[in-house]
Amino acid sequence: MRGWRAITLGLAAAFVLGACTGAPEQAASPSAERPPWPHDAVRFLGSGEALGESELLDAISRRGSVRDLSPDPLTDAEIAALLWSAQGVSTPGGARTVPSAGALYPLEMYVVTPEEVLHYVPRTSSVEVRYDDRAKELVADAVSGTPASRAYALVVITGVPGRITGKYADRGIRYMWMEAGHAAQNLLLAAAALGLGAVTIGAFDDAGMADALGLSDREEPLYLIPVGRPLT
Ligand SMILES: Cc1cc2nc3c(=O)[nH]c(=O)nc-3n(C[C@H](O)[C@H](O)[C@H](O)COP(=O)(O)O)c2cc1C
Repeated sequence: MRGWRAITLGLAAAFVLGACTGAPEQAASPSAERPPWPHDAVRFLGSGEALGESELLDAISRRGSVRDLSPDPLTDAEIAALLWSAQGVSTPGGARTVPSAGALYPLEMYVVTPEEVLHYVPRTSSVEVRYDDRAKELVADAVSGTPASRAYALVVITGVPGRITGKYADRGIRYMWMEAGHAAQNLLLAAAALGLGAVTIGAFDDAGMADALGLSDREEPLYLIPVGRPLT
């Protein structure tokens, strides 16, 4: 697998293309493409995987969208690792596993399972649990029944813009979305490292998702990530 990836990376670099794997979404129209960036040469750096057999590089190499996911339960230890990777506290001072503009931490993490909705509390490495056997169905409705929503755990990253716009005004909104990307990528890599499958989903009904989670109007859903054991 690693060799195959290396060849893919080599080809991509050689042709100076962005690699696109998995189910292709609609191609951008030519007018949406940016003009070529003026440059003097093209230099192939070699495969990014060539630095060794570190577990992180291995997880990066194995990450890929998995939509065919089992509804079998994840363990608390797996859920803990996923949430900690995305938003956990990693230093005695309270810094987290992902960067945050001004350390204001505008993100919240939820996990929707068939029986419960969990809200992550990073400082205590615990979850607030709401017993709710309807939320998962509502989240699935908000993504129009995407097959990946059959996965046991539907992780939702939400944002509280007011935490970050006080200091950064409108630019804080940009930072909040950047942070969602950091959190999501960490979670995807943790899933890959644990042998779990996951896919990031941006196409959902915002109001439906907010209702399913019972969010106040100060908090908005940003990203959905179904996670489960791969079926194939
Ligand atoms: C911001 C963003 C939004 C996405 N939204 C969806 C989505 O709504 N539905 C879906 O099936 N995949 C979604 N994806 C996953 C992409 O389709 C997938 O990453 C792409 O096909 C590349 O495949 P790979 O992740 O296996 O490398 C999204 C990815 C990103 C980064």
